[in-house]
Amino acid sequence: MNASELKELFQNQFGYNEGVRVFFAPGRVNLIGEHTDYNGGYVFPAALTFGTWAAAAPRKDNVYRFASANFPTEAECSVSETLVYREEDDWANYPKGVLNELIQLAEDENKSYSGADILFYGNIPNGAGLSSSASIELVTALALSKLAGFDIPMLELVKLGQRAENRFVGVNCGIMDQFAVGMGKKDHAMMLKCDTMEYQYVPVKIEGYKLVITNTNKRRGLADSKYNERRSECEEGLAIIKKYLPEVQSLGDVSLQNWNKVKSHIENETIRRRVEHVITENERVLLATKSLQENALVSFGEMMKQSHESLRDLYEVTGFELDTLFEEAAKIEGCIGTRMTGAGFGGCNVSLVKEHAVDEFKEKVAKNYSLKTKLDPDFYVCEIGDGAKEVF
Ligand code: GLA
Repeated sequence: MNASELKELFQNQFGYNEGVRVFFAPGRVNLIGEHTDYNGGYVFPAALTFGTWAAAAPRKDNVYRFASANFPTEAECSVSETLVYREEDDWANYPKGVLNELIQLAEDENKSYSGADILFYGNIPNGAGLSSSASIELVTALALSKLAGFDIPMLELVKLGQRAENRFVGVNCGIMDQFAVGMGKKDHAMMLKCDTMEYQYVPVKIEGYKLVITNTNKRRGLADSKYNERRSECEEGLAIIKKYLPEVQSLGDVSLQNWNKVKSHIENETIRRRVEHVITENERVLLATKSLQENALVSFGEMMKQSHESLRDLYEVTGFELDTLFEEAAKIEGCIGTRMTGAGFGGCNVSLVKEHAVDEFKEKVAKNYSLKTKLDPDFYVCEIGDGAKEVF
């Protein structure tokens, strides 16, 4: 989608196009470090080149109108009303939730918002675990704050997006998605410690290889999935660990060595396995990042595979479709790393594949996956792009 096409869509929707500005926020893929973010651990995501665009113009009458080139639902609200989640607003609950947070932030600082029209267009497959929600949250946060003349630091917008998702949409997600979408950098992944928010950009130099995202096309409902259950299982585990290691604030603080000392105190086997995943996954992020920095791609790929196995056997968030993709991908000789990415329970897999084997990968994985699951997968050869920004 280019500037003039978006402006034309805006014109068709709202009947004018003076003062229209265009913003973009990407989707993300997490390379390793799954279900560690809400445990204060490490993650290693990267921003994609597909995402959500917002063509937006300011209004002076306190009214916000949200429309989408992808979905028929439209929503309208005013700064003076109490904004609430409404089932019938469908996708528009995301921008409404963000607006709600922006207004609260402005009130704290004696500032105000005065209305806007926004037309969204996105090309991230929805519900595929590539953060279409965080993408619309960040593009809204950036567009509305800029239109109102406020320069809010990106890290604030990232946290605000997460608050909107937690409090308005009601999904208890961690910070990874909004961070990756807001802070992404072309050709880099981000190594983030989610409790301290310390981060580092790491170049993704994979010459001769491609990152291939494969969509199971099995829909994944984050809100009504087992996501929140996993969170509370981890909290239960943490509470026990704290009795023996009182200095620990989150599972992300527990080293493998300390874990081995205390794990026998967790009697419930399920809780023990959940915590074991988080702690070993955290170690894997560190090893994988180091491998990538040293151009040791085979070892990076090995970490990816171990991550999937742990999510399958210990954390139990994969399921038949993701496991089938994992097995079929791993069989391809040129595929040196493969794992589920995102929350799990469906969604996408990400694989590290030799460039010359990509066609064979797509062909064989598609054939065998379809045979076993009766679903057709989609493939996206992934390019790593920038985080949220104004584009034209
Ligand atoms: C979803 C959540 C993230 C993170 C991942 C699992 O994408 O939004 O915060 O917890 O699942 O790693």
